[in-house]
Amino acid sequence: MAIIISTEQGDVNKSELRDRYSGKLDIETKRLIDEDAKYFLHQALSTPVMNVLSKTQGAYIFDHSGKGYLDLHGNGVHNAGFSNPEVIAAVIEQLQEHLAFTPRRYTSLPAINLARRLIEITPPGLDRVLFCPGGSEAIEMAIALAKQVTGRWKTISYWDSYHGNGFQASTVGGEEHFSNGQGPMMPGAFHVEFPNYYRNPWGLTDEEKIDELYIRQIEIILQRHPDIAAIIAEPISATPVVPSLNYWQKIRTLCDRYGILLIYDEIIEGFGRTGKWFASEYFVTPDVLVLGKTLGGGLVPFAGIVTKDKYNVLQHRSIGHFTHEKNPLCSAAGLATINYIEKNKLLDNSAKMGEYLVEELTQLKDRFSLIGNIAGKGLHLGVDLVRDKKTKERATNEAEQIMYECLEHGVALKVIEGNILTMRPSLIIDKEDCDKIIHALTKAFEKVGRE
Ligand SMILES: Cc1ncc(COP(=O)(O)O)c(C=O)c1O
Repeated sequence: MAIIISTEQGDVNKSELRDRYSGKLDIETKRLIDEDAKYFLHQALSTPVMNVLSKTQGAYIFDHSGKGYLDLHGNGVHNAGFSNPEVIAAVIEQLQEHLAFTPRRYTSLPAINLARRLIEITPPGLDRVLFCPGGSEAIEMAIALAKQVTGRWKTISYWDSYHGNGFQASTVGGEEHFSNGQGPMMPGAFHVEFPNYYRNPWGLTDEEKIDELYIRQIEIILQRHPDIAAIIAEPISATPVVPSLNYWQKIRTLCDRYGILLIYDEIIEGFGRTGKWFASEYFVTPDVLVLGKTLGGGLVPFAGIVTKDKYNVLQHRSIGHFTHEKNPLCSAAGLATINYIEKNKLLDNSAKMGEYLVEELTQLKDRFSLIGNIAGKGLHLGVDLVRDKKTKERATNEAEQIMYECLEHGVALKVIEGNILTMRPSLIIDKEDCDKIIHALTKAFEKVGRE
């Protein structure tokens, strides 16, 4: 049987273009890639790898040959920049204090300080914190909390979303890639379509009407299933699609009416990515905010949830029984990252650089018919490539070509859903970095695109 590798999450690691790219790498890099492929268990989207890195610094990654790339992906850990010196200093200081770990039933100053700081910067009304090692586990905790406090067990989440690996996280995620072949997943997990104004199936342009039709999918489930515990979503999708305020207000109202917890996964969007501390601030306050990635400062893995005081009712249960639950080293990294973002006004920078990029991208859109749509907020941007502006047929081959062309020009980006170029650089980038992105894209479009 032919194996089909999904392109929903990104470019695949077996393609003609990948082979062509790999063919140009130097001999030592090729040797290391082969050695990596010899030891690691192969899986789509990672092994075999694309290249070997020797350094990650600021907004850049450097390959084994020393070539630097402005990284527009960074797996979302790099909001304050890779290898941030202030975060490194905080972690070293923590290590030198001989307090890198606290066994269960103990706490430490860094853990308390980080929890307090998160409560200060998250939307008002979110007053209770629980940490864990990674984002997938944080999603598991959020769903477990919703089940425990509501006494219900079903969920509604969105097609095409990604919420991590693991039983509950990959069930509520909307990509078959992460759950097919594993037998029965979590029961009672319903999926609906995320609102999409550019690609709505009805060909409508009136946002309110479009919202109404998408929300109807949720209402139908709610009328038939009184035991929904949670609605789980990224407030802005990873693609990104930015829903209207009206959409999230209506969902908030439905959650309140039916006693459902609204869980916002801001593992990507948190910590200034969209120009505010949290994307929730553009919309509504969730019952549970899920955080990760940048929370570990790009140095250590760390994640967690922030929720309402009224859900602090689990004295008889443990939904986040993790070895590194209150890890002081990870907390020190998180605290230093938040302080760095605040001190260097990276929220403002994210908003400003994002606006500048959108202006420049709009000029490219006028020039190249391959660009169908530009979407996003702050430095969470996506460019939807189409073969035809009317039919909006996804330009998948072209997107992959553009990605490899950009690498030639020192810009690393990721393709999602086969045809959307996603751009999520570090929030420390300046205008010169933005110009580098636009220059690389221009060169790539001149080669691949149609003017
Ligand atoms: C939106 C979202 N949720 C959850 C996760 C899972 O986080 P982790 O990889 O830390 O388990 C990711 C990771 O990419 C993500 O992007």
